[in-house]
Amino acid sequence: MTDTLIVHGGSPLHGRIRLRGAKNFVSKAMVASLLGETPSRLRNVPQIRDVGVVTGLLELHGVSVTTVGDDTLLLDPTEVETAHSADIDAHAGTSRIPILLCGPLLHRLGEAFIPDLGGCKIGDRPINYHLESLRRFGAVVDKLPSGIRITAPKGLKGTKIELEFPSVGATEQVLLTAVRAEGVTELKNAAIEPEIADLIAVLQKMGAIISVDTDRVIRIEGVDRLEGYDHYALTDRIEAASWACAALATRGDVFLEGATQPEMMTFLNVFRKVGGQFDVRDDGVRFWHPGGDLRSIVLETDVHPGFMTDWQQPLVVALTQASGISIVHETVYENRFGFTEALREMGATIQVYRECLGGASCRFGQRNFQHSAVVSGPSKLHSAEITVPDLRGGFSHLIAALAAEGTSKVHGIGLIDRGYERFGEKLAALGAMVERG
Ligand code: EPU
Repeated sequence: MTDTLIVHGGSPLHGRIRLRGAKNFVSKAMVASLLGETPSRLRNVPQIRDVGVVTGLLELHGVSVTTVGDDTLLLDPTEVETAHSADIDAHAGTSRIPILLCGPLLHRLGEAFIPDLGGCKIGDRPINYHLESLRRFGAVVDKLPSGIRITAPKGLKGTKIELEFPSVGATEQVLLTAVRAEGVTELKNAAIEPEIADLIAVLQKMGAIISVDTDRVIRIEGVDRLEGYDHYALTDRIEAASWACAALATRGDVFLEGATQPEMMTFLNVFRKVGGQFDVRDDGVRFWHPGGDLRSIVLETDVHPGFMTDWQQPLVVALTQASGISIVHETVYENRFGFTEALREMGATIQVYRECLGGASCRFGQRNFQHSAVVSGPSKLHSAEITVPDLRGGFSHLIAALAAEGTSKVHGIGLIDRGYERFGEKLAALGAMVERG
């Protein structure tokens, strides 16, 4: 199958699609299964490439991963073994998940090897918080030319950690390590994203003792043994917001089965302020463009409960259709506006700035990062030949192509498969005129 999608744009998306479990939770829950002495069952798993990558990594370590039906994984870690670093290296550059295997592998095998990490190119994405946290638990970190070898000659002990920034990955690292470390761990300035709450729910089902205070402090009492879990993954709120923005940008009307309100509160407020309408029902959320003009806004991305950085890119496409000047300040990643270049080629008026615009100054202010954008609209978008830069930027290009008049060619859509389940089928279900090129 080719890696190009031909999009005949200019018509609204209309219809109903079903969403499934969150990419950024499912992969971590799969890793958590390594900590159990008995098999786990994870339900509502999407068929996306990242799940395949984590499956491959777990299988390399002796975990048997079986798919049951359409969306259930059985993960059996009873035969966990050390993988050969050369095999793990074959996964280098495909995902950021390998770093999260450290804690579970140290508990199970006493060592872990992490290849060079992949993931979207939206900033430097260092792993210093991860490595520093592991060291505090007593792990020894050796940097090798091919990756990082981590051992725990004296075992892992509970500790006190304070993150400089509430990093999602580093919080997950601490959780996955602390649950079986000896003694109590206190994590300050932790991330509290809904995907983390669901990971904590999984770990609690497994036998962990974890409390979350209101002030971003998480306390974990280590236990000797964890069992497998049975869990239904929370819905992917990034996928939901992406399709909602696609409906808004194309003046459409979509029902997203499985979308939930609590995890999307902040998005829903912004969607309403821009002029979009939604209706929350028991089985999902309907999002639509009510006609007339959309309104410009001033927005800042932030960690939960703020406006997610992953919602920013699809929303910016919708903002090109709003009347007036919108300001978007990205405070989570220093380099997440690269995708706007293609939008400019398609007729959007977007300028990016180094300054912190429209809100408080962030850690990227006074540095050389173009992390604020000014979007003037509405702009008539026209078709173009574009190449997908990263997962969310790629979906945003797709939205722009759907909203644009004429026929666009979007190259590199394989990247979108990493996080959007069967998006070609979903586009067809919503009446989009697309074909593989
Ligand atoms: N950071 C550091 N040092 C670290 C770790 C993070 O400086 O050791 C910085 C990052 O460079 C970034 C900020 O902290 O500027 C936040 O990064 P975080 O660790 O929270 O992100 P992550 O765990 O690597 C996950 C998601 C991202 C999502 C972010 C924020 C997964 C696999 N990825 O990344 O998802 O944007 O949290 O919510 O869960 C995506 O799905 O497209 C995606 C990029």
